[in-house]
Amino acid sequence: MISVRKLIKRFGPKTVLRGLNFEVARGEFVGLLGPNGAGKTTFLRVLSSLSSPTLGEVRISGFQLPGQAAAVRRRLGVVLHQPLLYGDLTAEENLRFYGRMYGVADLEARISAVLELVGLSKRRRDLVRTFSRGMQQRLSIGRAVIHQPDVLLFDEPYTGLDQDAAAMLDDVLRQIAAQGHTIVMTSHDLARIADLASRFDVISRGVIAASAPREAVESRGLLAFYREAIRNGK
Ligand SMILES: Nc1ncnc2c1ncn2[C@@H]1O[C@H](COP(=O)(O)OP(=O)(O)OP(=O)(O)O)[C@@H](O)[C@H]1O
Ligand SMILES: [Mg+2]
Repeated sequence: MISVRKLIKRFGPKTVLRGLNFEVARGEFVGLLGPNGAGKTTFLRVLSSLSSPTLGEVRISGFQLPGQAAAVRRRLGVVLHQPLLYGDLTAEENLRFYGRMYGVADLEARISAVLELVGLSKRRRDLVRTFSRGMQQRLSIGRAVIHQPDVLLFDEPYTGLDQDAAAMLDDVLRQIAAQGHTIVMTSHDLARIADLASRFDVISRGVIAASAPREAVESRGLLAFYREAIRNGK
């Protein structure tokens, strides 16, 4: 589903990703870990086609980046730091805008279902600029799933969510994982990632320093696995 070979990303003289390799099969849920500044957000921005690779090969659903960005975007849902919402539109208008862009069938029913899913049905006609941060985050999650994309990328999606919203996101993630969607999610919340992901990858020094399926990590614990990966990467 995702295939990345020898990805290099530089900002001027600074090299952030140093020949990163990453393969994700359909239906995997990858928890992407790494210390502050390791390059997780940079990597997800490249996968989202928001930032272009300096060198290397990136494919999603068989389409190459940056050349086939439009085809990739149709198959991708992303929740990054910027909410990608229009403040002067209502919640439902935002979803309608994205739904139309992606050609979602039976759109009005889908909008209602998504608003229900993220707990915003009662606020559907309110302007997004009047929303709290957590409510915007909820709507971002709705926006990311409206077209039922093959691949979902989440960068620290729990940041700013209250207990109810975090539980809602747990549910949403479990549902989309159970439907066979492919997910890559970063978080510093190891307990949460340990609960949800089927595989754990650690970015350190610009490469994937360790990758292991859930079964291989369960006995020793995710924190021990993470610490060892960071130590070996140094
Ligand atoms: N546009 C940019 N220009 C220059 N440097 C950048 C840019 N974006 C990111 N960087 C640098 O790339 C490195 C990786 O940043 P990135 O945001 O990807 O880290 P991260 O793993 O997401 O960290 P965190 O856990 O804090 O979110 C940092 O050193 C950062 O300063
Ligand atoms: Mg980040």
